[in-house]
Amino acid sequence: MSDLTTKLDDLHRRFSAALTAAEDERALEQARVDYLGRSGEVTQVRRAIGQLPPPERPAAGKTINAAVASMEAELEAAQSRLSQRAFDADLAQRIDVTFPAISPRTGAINPVRRITEDVASYFTRHGFAVVLGPEVEPDYYNFDALNIPADHPAREGFDSFWLTETLLLRPHTSPMQIRTMQQHRPPVAILAPGKCYRRDAVDARHLFQFHQIEGLLVAQDVHFGHLKGMLTGMCRALFGSGQNVRFRPSFFPFTEPSAEVDTTCPRCKGLASQCGMCGGSGWIELGGSGMVHPNVLREVGYDPDVYAGWAFGFGVERLGLIRYEIDDIRRYIDSDPDFLRQLA
Ligand code: PHE
Repeated sequence: MSDLTTKLDDLHRRFSAALTAAEDERALEQARVDYLGRSGEVTQVRRAIGQLPPPERPAAGKTINAAVASMEAELEAAQSRLSQRAFDADLAQRIDVTFPAISPRTGAINPVRRITEDVASYFTRHGFAVVLGPEVEPDYYNFDALNIPADHPAREGFDSFWLTETLLLRPHTSPMQIRTMQQHRPPVAILAPGKCYRRDAVDARHLFQFHQIEGLLVAQDVHFGHLKGMLTGMCRALFGSGQNVRFRPSFFPFTEPSAEVDTTCPRCKGLASQCGMCGGSGWIELGGSGMVHPNVLREVGYDPDVYAGWAFGFGVERLGLIRYEIDDIRRYIDSDPDFLRQLA
């Protein structure tokens, strides 16, 4: 009898160990077959009861039944433990769609680019072509051809970065007027956006590298009214339908007459006497413009008696200051993602 108990105990211990070691359902099933199956170890022990003296048999049967019951309970526990583990693993791999989403941090287009594209889209709708040119220019394109001879004081006005005696970083996009007219017969209608450089100390209103957009139209019978019409349309496209433009007499060697262009203050619409944006004047300055000087037309081989043209050059950062009410021009180059995203 104690023989039987010892045998069952040993068998039970090995069965338990097999269950603990089982990694999957198949291993569990194998353990069941090895011990509790039709030719398993427990069944063989049960068969051996037949060799016992008859009076001992019922007790032996009971002992075996008790061991089997406890083993079966263990097997069941092991099975549910395994399937729980499989469920957990499955869950960990699946995406729980009820979880709050983490929105990806996306980039944002810099306002300089955005405004350039908006201005370009307005002018291309009206048949203008967008042209790009070099940032390093010979003084010829930058000055001489634009009616600014070597001794002209206007050269000093464009506080430039000179690279050699004759090469400089362009301080404005007007060289593109010359390059375009030299390559094409009139009519020409172009928009030339790009970087410009001036030796300015950086502060809230100045950067030494900034962007301009140059516009140029040359054809027959072009007059100042066309310029005003196009710029009014541009300002309405950029800042809203209530915008107007006004011209103030000015001077540029490459235009005659020349004018500074102002547009209605988009914040107060020209109505406030104490507007923080326009200082109460109701107008915001955009940049320079004028009718292309006859000397410039002559320089590129256009006959000023046949053709006329207008041109303008606006600062892109300045357009952004107006449109987004940016207080400090340095914000454009801080690369502050929060600033950029807020304008997106
Ligand atoms: N190039 C001038 C500037 O940078 C602006 C301008 C362009 C004026 C075209 C008239 C015509 O100040």
